Amino acid sequence: MHDIIQQLENKRGLARLGGGQKRIDSQHKKGKLTARERIELLLDPESFEEWDMFKEHRCTDFGMEADKTPGDGVVTGYGTVNGRVVFVFSQDFTVFGGSLSETHAEKICKIMDHAIKVGAPVIGLNDSGGARIQEGVASLGGYADVFQRNVMASGVVPQISMIMGPCAGGAVYSPSMTDFIFMVKDSSYMFVTGPEVVKTVTHEEVTAEELGGAVTHTTKSGVADLAFENDVEALMMLRRLIGFLPSNNREKPPVVPPFDPTDRIDHSLDTLVPANPNMPYNMKELIIKVVDDGDFFELQPDYAKNIVIGFARMDGTTIGVVANQPLVLAGCLDIKSSIKAARFVRFCDAFNIPVVTFVDVPGFMPGTTQEYGGIIKHGAKLLYAYAECTVPKITVITRKAYGGAYDVMSSKHLRGDVNFAWPSAEIAVMGPKGAVEIIFRDEKGDPAKLAEREAEYKAKFANPFVAGARGFIDDVIQPHETRKRICRSLAMLKEKKLENPWRKHGNIPL
Ligand code: HXC
Repeated sequence: MHDIIQQLENKRGLARLGGGQKRIDSQHKKGKLTARERIELLLDPESFEEWDMFKEHRCTDFGMEADKTPGDGVVTGYGTVNGRVVFVFSQDFTVFGGSLSETHAEKICKIMDHAIKVGAPVIGLNDSGGARIQEGVASLGGYADVFQRNVMASGVVPQISMIMGPCAGGAVYSPSMTDFIFMVKDSSYMFVTGPEVVKTVTHEEVTAEELGGAVTHTTKSGVADLAFENDVEALMMLRRLIGFLPSNNREKPPVVPPFDPTDRIDHSLDTLVPANPNMPYNMKELIIKVVDDGDFFELQPDYAKNIVIGFARMDGTTIGVVANQPLVLAGCLDIKSSIKAARFVRFCDAFNIPVVTFVDVPGFMPGTTQEYGGIIKHGAKLLYAYAECTVPKITVITRKAYGGAYDVMSSKHLRGDVNFAWPSAEIAVMGPKGAVEIIFRDEKGDPAKLAEREAEYKAKFANPFVAGARGFIDDVIQPHETRKRICRSLAMLKEKKLENPWRKHGNIPL
């Protein structure tokens, strides 16, 4: 018996060593942790249950039958994050560069199937040279099996991808179908074709970092949500993100009792909006002052900065925050910001997370770049997302809510549950200046008259009371009581039930 136990330990030791000490050292030299070290940091201590540690590839070409490592380049199983179950796979770059074989894919599929069955998030730690070249089409089939499960899990359990090394070719499409992507600066990249192919086809000279590094994807493409300095920071932030999310689409979001009273008043909010409607202010200040303990987990902070999205808690329960940012492009909606917010609203809706929207929007961005880029279709994504969303929706208009953008930003007409406005709100078809220049075009030569008309229009329409008179605004509130009013509304909406008509699926303007 003792021998058998020893044999098991030896086998485990071999599996734990992956591609060997030399390759582990090389991984460390690149500033990267190993697949197992990453899992250890991600999960609660001693909580990891590993599966398929002894699984090996079945390839017999290119002398591969003599080159087998138990586990076949991916560590899989489940464990807990702050006591809640998550499933995880962690690709081991020391074994054939973490490349995906048929059996490697089977291991990933197994944990994904279980995650869907038990309703727990799937966390993928990606560090892979892509398809296992020696296996050819068997490996491609493996990728497709994972893709199919990504789609089946979408909206059922949260899926989060960490890019912690190479991720190239078709391999990028699994992370891209997950809900959130985190990347590590200087050691991870994602692209459909690498710099060499780019050079051959388009004659562009570009480095891997420029083409698909963490900074590129969190500032230019919007493919990734957040970029971190190193593996440790990325994994700690991943644990934080998981804390905001329910484990599946049947659960309500987790509650973390706050130290922050729900009726906390903040008088500094009364002076947040400048007297001059053309002066910007920082919408994040409002968010931080209103949510529990000032704790706001912002996503995509460096992409489409004219809209702010992220998770926070109010009275302990997770909320999704969407807010126009007057500091950037005056907070207008353009292609990128519409897509960014639309996907976030849909995530919140899928996972029962109430959406709180702060509005200061002068409209959609005008111009040929936007029109040729399809702002009509992309702007409609946000409209569609808010309109189909059935979770509690609270809206606070702080200043401008003009034109179509007023409708889009979780208005009453799109089934907003509670819609507040600050006294500084201006809810109108457009700003006073633009409006009088159109209605009183023939008085253009008389600036004094035009100014008078503008003042008249402003007094009449640039306020929240016209909308209030129609019931499009439930109440005009004092800025300092915003937190209290939102918390009360959320408490009232706790058991909200609203269902859309049955259909196979809607046809969101993709
Ligand atoms: C098998 C691979 C591999 C792969 C790397 N290795 N990629 N083995 N299949 N795809 C092995 C290497 O042979 C090497 O083995 C070890 O992993 C480490 O690789 P290095 O090249 O030494 O590391 P590094 O210099 O860091 O370069 C990493 C790399 C490079 C950039 C990922 O290895 C590379 O370009 N690999 C090929 C990538 C690729 O073309 N993959 C297929 C893409 S197509 P030893 O024994 O020396 O340690 C694809 C399609 C997916 O993925 C489609 C889905 C639908």
